[in-house]
Amino acid sequence: MTPTGRVALVTGANRGIGRAIAAGLAAQGIVVAIGARSPSAADAVAAELGAPSFGVRLDVTDAASVEAAVAAVVERTGRIDIVVNNAGGHYDSGVVPSGVSDADVIDAIEINLVGPWRVCRAAIPHMQRQGRGRIVNVSSRSGTFASTWADAPAYGVSKAALNMMTFQLAKELEGSGILVNACCPGWVRTDMGGLDADKSPEEGADTPIWLATLPDDGPTGGMFGERARIDW
Ligand SMILES: NC(=O)c1ccc[n+]([C@@H]2O[C@H](COP(=O)([O-])OP(=O)(O)OC[C@H]3O[C@@H](n4cnc5c(N)ncnc54)[C@H](OP(=O)(O)O)[C@@H]3O)[C@@H](O)[C@H]2O)c1
Repeated sequence: MTPTGRVALVTGANRGIGRAIAAGLAAQGIVVAIGARSPSAADAVAAELGAPSFGVRLDVTDAASVEAAVAAVVERTGRIDIVVNNAGGHYDSGVVPSGVSDADVIDAIEINLVGPWRVCRAAIPHMQRQGRGRIVNVSSRSGTFASTWADAPAYGVSKAALNMMTFQLAKELEGSGILVNACCPGWVRTDMGGLDADKSPEEGADTPIWLATLPDDGPTGGMFGERARIDW
């Protein structure tokens, strides 16, 4: 594996799809900062992947922790080339749209929209300084008008908002060298997806890894699944 000199921050990288994304990027010679709420869990994954990967504490619902995590990555490596906003949650399965509570909506929006937005805001100035960057927002088909369903409404609405945030950021950053895209990993066997899901975490990580390593003439402002554009 040839080192690329590139540095990626992956949120929620201690388990599930995030861990598989981190492993896949590290296997391509990218220095990966393993973002996790638990510092010991972050360090454990970093140790498994081996140097130069390293762990950083990062709770997307805590603005100070997000700023400190991005600052720690830049202080340690001097750069940040890739952000994968993978951390997500609050899949309110079994709830119908007319039955959702305020608390559910607020919690889902905080984890799935406000958190990734914070990470983007902290990282983008460094990418602009470098004139290059890749931002991947791990979203879901439940957040698309094209394929959503009437279950897990707080989650779906929060992912729809993440899709719009992706699209707006991509517009703002057009021509800057920073490509911003969203994707659905598919239905994946993780704590969120359950044991019956179609894909392994490694299969779910494929499209996020592809988007994180796009060439300079790659797409921006799109929603992707299985390395192909899908409808919003
Ligand atoms: N699995 C699927 O079928 C599926 C389908 C579509 C989209 N997705 C999306 O794919 C992404 C990864 O999901 P997954 O299936 O791998 O889920 P998972 O196994 O439940 O893992 C979720 C990850 O997010 C982290 N996380 C949760 N809240 C966080 C916070 N406040 N700050 C930082 N990290 C936080 C968790 O950390 P802790 O260990 O600390 O809890 C964990 O690392 C999510 O964005 C999810 O919405 C998944």
